[in-house]
Amino acid sequence: MVDMDIVVLGDEILRQKAQNIADIDTNIKALSQQMLETMYRGKGIGLAAPQVGLSLRMFVLDVEEGSPLVFINPSLLETSEELEDFEEGCLSIPGVYAKVARSAEIRIQAWNERGRPFTMEAEGFLARVIQHEMDHLNGVLFTDRLPEIIRAKLLKQYEKRMRA
Ligand code: NI
Repeated sequence: MVDMDIVVLGDEILRQKAQNIADIDTNIKALSQQMLETMYRGKGIGLAAPQVGLSLRMFVLDVEEGSPLVFINPSLLETSEELEDFEEGCLSIPGVYAKVARSAEIRIQAWNERGRPFTMEAEGFLARVIQHEMDHLNGVLFTDRLPEIIRAKLLKQYEKRMRA
């Protein structure tokens, strides 16, 4: 199996709106497996296709260890007005963590790696990870959701560390 590299902050692909997947075929199924392996290797809990250099509307996650989920062409059907603050990180911005406000509950529709459509309701941490990965498909990073002053400080520290 080919090793996939994780794209980091600064790569344009992280800022693009990803494209819908026309056919959920065996290649996509294989890709979902490769993405999960890449995510586990990076000790992440979620990974979106743009993070491995593919501008496709697809992400994987595993919030409860051993229960991987694959979301293809997902759409958020509902997001609660009630927000929650919780610390996030991202494999594409290594070492940066900050509290982000997100909807406490969501409802999402997507297709799995076998091409079956499903709808899921999620709350708490799972809802958070889903929203974070959805953002990746729209070129949005969690740091975009931070107050300007906090974002500037964290990114400055990050760049300094990357140069070191
Ligand atoms: Ni991320």
